[in-house]
Amino acid sequence: MKKIFTFLVGACLSVGAMAQSTLAFDANAGVKSKMTAYDGTCVNYTAYERLFYVTNVEDSTYQFLNVYVPDGATQQTPIFLRTYVGGYMASPAAQPQAGDATGRALKEGYVVVIPGTRGRNSSIIADKAYAKNRKGVKKGQTVYTGRAPKAILDLKAAIRYLRHFNKQIPGDAERIITDGTSAGGAMSALMGATGNNPEYAELLMAMGAADERDDVFASVCYCPIIDLEHADMAYEWLYQQTDSRQALDETHKRYTKELAALFPAYLNSLSLKEPDGTPLTADNYQDYLKSEIIRSAQIAKNAGADIPDSLGFKFTSEAGGMFAAPINGGMRPQMQDDKHPMMQGGQPPMGMRPIRGGRKQVGEYITDLDMQKYLNYVVSTQALKGVPAFDSKIEGINNGSGENEVFGDETGSSVNFTDFTAQKNNTMLTDAIRQNVRLMNPMSFIGDGKTTIASHWYIRHGARDRDTAFPIPVNFATKLQNAGKDVDFLLAWNRPHSGDYALDELFQWIAKITK
Ligand code: DHB
Repeated sequence: MKKIFTFLVGACLSVGAMAQSTLAFDANAGVKSKMTAYDGTCVNYTAYERLFYVTNVEDSTYQFLNVYVPDGATQQTPIFLRTYVGGYMASPAAQPQAGDATGRALKEGYVVVIPGTRGRNSSIIADKAYAKNRKGVKKGQTVYTGRAPKAILDLKAAIRYLRHFNKQIPGDAERIITDGTSAGGAMSALMGATGNNPEYAELLMAMGAADERDDVFASVCYCPIIDLEHADMAYEWLYQQTDSRQALDETHKRYTKELAALFPAYLNSLSLKEPDGTPLTADNYQDYLKSEIIRSAQIAKNAGADIPDSLGFKFTSEAGGMFAAPINGGMRPQMQDDKHPMMQGGQPPMGMRPIRGGRKQVGEYITDLDMQKYLNYVVSTQALKGVPAFDSKIEGINNGSGENEVFGDETGSSVNFTDFTAQKNNTMLTDAIRQNVRLMNPMSFIGDGKTTIASHWYIRHGARDRDTAFPIPVNFATKLQNAGKDVDFLLAWNRPHSGDYALDELFQWIAKITK
């Protein structure tokens, strides 16, 4: 098998495309290797690399996956599937990294799978055979191979490949846990929320993906950049009152206002419910977000973090009990109750008296948050994106974002994908772009009765991550919860745009759901 791959790849390198008659996996082709884990221990594993997951390989740089099997893994071992997609760009199949979730997964004994995927920047040069098979493509032309929805198609093909060879490849393809960050978080979300949906079927068949199911067991999504067609309105709705938005020029201020005004109707159209069943609408949504930020900060505070009230938080005026440990490492505040038997003339006994001029003291519980103050703090840690934040390509004003390229075509075009910005350019979205936008949004199919949604979700978005607005991950987590899924969601305290953190916690969660 190895020989055949070498021949095919070698013969077709100039264009990156190749055809295989069938999908293959050679159980004898594993290569023994080892990794020093984060804790200094040695993990022995077997690597199976360059496993092409489609028969019609359009881009041989990316369309294969790697499998890493730690010693002791069996056919029943869950599979940790990590996508390294970032910025919606192409991502090659990688090897496990000791310091991230892949290394940790291997150390914990899980089978690790890292697929490569095409992305908005991947391209090939068409050769004669390629040009002959593709209408409108000329020999020698640069063809962009990874425009929407190619990345998710590749990942679905990878999942189908794992199912196709489930009896041969160690690990249980019925217990795949996907993981990714940012655009990779979006990919993980898509793998979890589009399982077996028929709208992808023809595209997958044309690629030569295995005729198998492509649903997964669980998805881990760090700061997923999703719901792109509503992300601009959510962004302006959230940040419109911040100092930085107020300081914009008149044109951009107007965009902010117009976009923000679109968000309530969208939000209401989702018919979301809070965990206790209360309808979540534009009327109570600010309060709900506030409660999520407070929940985040309180968890951090309980774990010993210093939560300065300068960020906009209010606290109970008293500390915990008489003998509670000082909060944030400071001294106890002045006792309120001077009748307490321990009090002497309104003063706590010597040794428990506050240090004069010491740090400001706060209570045990966070009781309120000034959201505008908090949002200004978020913006002070990293400047906001422009207006619009995602579909930002407006003639004469802005050249556009990476997302504009995601929805472009194989010539490498950059296009609008929201009605709002298209209208600013006096154009309209084509049906093809609309459909691609739909296929790239994990919000599209939840609860449609035609899609198998992962049962378990671990979703994190940093409490000071401004790459997309808080409502985007909050809506996603809530929609999944409302559909009866097991969702562990948190706006992780003080985290900027980042992923694969709190790995002790993540792997405890994985152990719990796979027990
Ligand atoms: C990523 C970050 C963004 O701000 C964005 O718009 C798209 C992708 C990323 O880090 O993958």
